[in-house]
Amino acid sequence: MMKIGIDKMSFFTPPTYVDMVELAEARGVDPNKYLYGIGQGKMGIAAEAYDIVAMATNAANKILTAEDKEQIDMVIFATESGVDHSKSAGTWVHDLLDIQPYARVVEFKQACYSATAGIQLAMGHLTMHPDSKVLILASDIAKYGVNTGGEPTQGAGAVAMLLSGDPSILAIETNSATYTKDIDDFWRPTYSEFAYVDGKYSNEAYLGTLNSVWDRYKDQFGAQVSDFEAMLFHVPYTKMGRKALLELADEMDETTSERFEKYYDSGIVYNYVVGNIYTGSLYLSLLSFLEQGDEVAAGSRIGLFSYGSGAVGEFFVGEIQAGYKDALLKEDHEKMLENRIKFALEEYERVLSNPVSIDEEGNAALETKHTNAGDFIFAGINEHKRFYKKL
Ligand code: HMG
Repeated sequence: MMKIGIDKMSFFTPPTYVDMVELAEARGVDPNKYLYGIGQGKMGIAAEAYDIVAMATNAANKILTAEDKEQIDMVIFATESGVDHSKSAGTWVHDLLDIQPYARVVEFKQACYSATAGIQLAMGHLTMHPDSKVLILASDIAKYGVNTGGEPTQGAGAVAMLLSGDPSILAIETNSATYTKDIDDFWRPTYSEFAYVDGKYSNEAYLGTLNSVWDRYKDQFGAQVSDFEAMLFHVPYTKMGRKALLELADEMDETTSERFEKYYDSGIVYNYVVGNIYTGSLYLSLLSFLEQGDEVAAGSRIGLFSYGSGAVGEFFVGEIQAGYKDALLKEDHEKMLENRIKFALEEYERVLSNPVSIDEEGNAALETKHTNAGDFIFAGINEHKRFYKKL
């Protein structure tokens, strides 16, 4: 049977971050709570020039060749930080990256789950059109606000994935288990800049959904945890994925448990210093596992748990492809993280609390400070129309 899956992938996070020890001290909290209790060392912050479109464009620009841009016939932009009620954020990316015009572009939303819905749609599409390619962009800015319970679990970034009928990295299996339940664990009304969250309930809902989809997957397909080389999870903060591993601990023998722990550690190297990037977080963890972990054998099966508050979850499986390490951009990603600069807390608070302000004519000029030469940035608004440029 034809394999379909991730042929290329990369991520982008803006060049500024907040140090979690400094944040803890400013909030009168023991730094160990953030470093170990929550499990975050740094938090990526998007200055105003890096909106979801700019971040996604920068992520995709690292992987797309001229040939890919001719073959892509669908762009799926997954986000819960939309910049327009009508227009899909992907239309700007499609233009900025010169993707051929006879392509379908659409935006998907379901909290942190929507990139996974994008993958499932792409799977069906590539089954029917095996020579085409689908670009999936998962781009978000997680904002709870200054001095809120969710503050240490913010972040910003984008993951770009190119799916094809001949994947170099991970083939996605067709069997999966999905679960939906209307709950209010985390949400962001259209009038609110910041997310609302019932933190403890959201943790319970995440674990409850994991149990629902895992039980369903086992029942339908006769699986057990030891079938998988590693299990990766949606990572809103790195402790949450550990709780997920613990939830499955009863079903693991010692060897499986040690293996999962080891791979979980390599799967959170990036998340630990970037924070929650919502719909891209599971895929940032996948990328971290692929790039920072020991090489795993071709054919190894990786269990993936996607969770989006509100809530939708899915358990699905990827199969490692031979030579996958050669298809990754490990050094580029490490360099991007090393070259970031630390935001002073006052600067972070200013950025977080002041959304772009538009004058009466519908214009806004944006600051370009804290940007990298060569990046695509959000450059301003002209008569209510957003525009972007490459620095
Ligand atoms: P909190 O009340 O600040 O923290 O909320 P806490 O008091 O529960 O402490 C957290 C952990 O730190 C605990 O460990 C403490 O023991 C430990 P745990 O019991 O959890 O293992 N701790 C310490 N450890 C070491 N030294 C110390 C110390 N003090 C305490 N001195 C919470 C934390 C995550 C709930 C909050 O930050 C929050 O509401 N965050 C946002 C919600 C969230 O991320 N939920 C995750 C599940 S829902 C989800 O993943 C979906 C989401 O991504 C959105 C989407 O789908 O779009 C969020």
